[in-house]
Amino acid sequence: MDSQHGMWSSRTVFVLAAAGSAVGLGNIWRFPYVAGENGGGAFVLVYLACIFLIGIPIMASEILIGRAGRQSPINSVRTLSAGSGANPLWQAVGWMGALAGFMILSFYAVIAGWVLSYVLQLGAGTYNGADAEFASNAFSDFIGNVWSVVGCYTVFMALTIFITARGVGRGLEVAVKYLMPTLFFLLIVLVIYAAVTSGHFMEGIAFLFSFDVEKLTWNSVLIAMGQAFFTLSLGMGAIMAYGAYMPKDVSIIGTATTVALMDTAVALMSGLIIFPLVFANGLESSGGPGLMFITLPLAFGQMSGGQFFGCVFFILVTFAAITSAISLVEPAVAWIVERMKVSRVSAALIVGGFVWILGLGSAFSSNIWADVYIVGNMTFLDTMDYVSNNIILPLGGILIALFAGWVVDKKIRDEQMAADLLYYPVWQVLTRFVAPIAVSIVFLMTFLNG
Ligand code: TRP
Repeated sequence: MDSQHGMWSSRTVFVLAAAGSAVGLGNIWRFPYVAGENGGGAFVLVYLACIFLIGIPIMASEILIGRAGRQSPINSVRTLSAGSGANPLWQAVGWMGALAGFMILSFYAVIAGWVLSYVLQLGAGTYNGADAEFASNAFSDFIGNVWSVVGCYTVFMALTIFITARGVGRGLEVAVKYLMPTLFFLLIVLVIYAAVTSGHFMEGIAFLFSFDVEKLTWNSVLIAMGQAFFTLSLGMGAIMAYGAYMPKDVSIIGTATTVALMDTAVALMSGLIIFPLVFANGLESSGGPGLMFITLPLAFGQMSGGQFFGCVFFILVTFAAITSAISLVEPAVAWIVERMKVSRVSAALIVGGFVWILGLGSAFSSNIWADVYIVGNMTFLDTMDYVSNNIILPLGGILIALFAGWVVDKKIRDEQMAADLLYYPVWQVLTRFVAPIAVSIVFLMTFLNG
C-alpha cells in the first residue's frame, strides 16, 4: 500500500529527508547554548545517552507506526489502534503531536528569521574585523527591533509554506541532496578553523567532554533529554509522517541509527566550533540563545574570505532550518488533506496562518514583550520552547514507544521489523521498558526536586 501523499523513491531519500528534519537549528544553534548553560561535559554525556537509549528506539517506533499506517500521524495511530483492538484514546498521541508541531514551529521560525537576517548582515560585510563587543551589541540591537524580527520571521514562514505546499517529494529532496553535504563540508572547515586559529580548542573539548557530575541537576537532565527529542525531531509525529512515505522492506532500526549518527555528528561539530571561539574571545559559555549569533560572525569577521563564507554558511543554516520546519508542519498538513479533502496548498496555508499568529508572541519576546514573563522568568518564546521540548515531546515519546512496543498488533510489528531481525529484540526491550521508564524517572525527579 502506498501513501496518498506520495512516496520517497528510495531508502537514501528517506534518510536524507529524515536527516533534513533532524539536522537544523537544534544542532547548530540550540545544542551549543543549552550545553553551555548547563555546564558542558556531564550534560553532553546525558544527552548522548538519551540519543542512543531513548532517541533511536523511539525514532524506530515512529517509523514503524508511520509505515504501517501510511497516513498522517493522527490517522495512522487511529487505524493501527483500531486494527489492534486498542482504545481509540490512543489517537490523542497524534493530536498532541500536531499541537507540539505548531508550538515548536512558531518559535523555531522566529529564530530561523534571525539566521536569515545574518545572511544579509554577513553578506554586507557588517562583521568584517568586528570584536566581541561589537558582535554582541549588533545582536541585541537586531533582536530588539520588532520590525526586522517580524519581517525576517515572516519571510522564513513564507518560504516554509511555499515548499510544503509544493509537496514533500520534489521540493525537499533536491534541497537535502545538495545542501546537506555542503553544510557538512563547511562545518568541517569551521571546526578546522577553530582548531587552528582559536588557540582554545582543547579548552573547548574539555568543556564539552569532561564529566563533572556536580554540575548536573535533575532539571538539566530533563533539558538534556528534551534536547535529544528536539534534535532528532521525535515525540510529535514528524518522523512518523515521513515514515508513512518510506518504501517497505527497508531496515527501520538501521535507518534510524544512521539518521541519529548524522545528527549527533553535526551537533558535536557545532559545539567544537562555538566553544573554542567563546573561550578565545572571552565570552560566557552560558551566553544563552545569542551564542551562535555572536561567536560565528566574529569568527567570520576575522577570517580571510569570511564575508563570503559567512554568508554562505548562514544560507545553509537557513536551508537546514527549512527542511526541519517542513517536517514540523507535515503531520498537520497531511491530516488536513485527508480530513477536509482540500489541496496541499490550502492545507499548508491554513497551518501557516495559525502558526504565524502564534509565533508573533515569540517574535515580540526580544523587544516589545521582552519584560512579559509567562512562567517564572521565561518570556513567551522561552515558554514555548521549554514546554514543547521538555514536556510535550518526552510525553509524546513515552506514548509512542508504548504504542509501538505494546499496543500495535504483534503481526504488524513483526512484519515491519522483518529487515531488522538482529536488533529487533534489543529494540523491543528499549522501547517497551527502557525508554518509557527512563523518561518517567526524569519527569518524576524534576518534579520532586522543584
Ligand atoms: N530537529 C530539528 C532541529 O534540530 C527541529 C525539528 C524538526 C523538530 N522537526 C521536529 C523538533 C519535530 C521536534 C519535533 O532543528
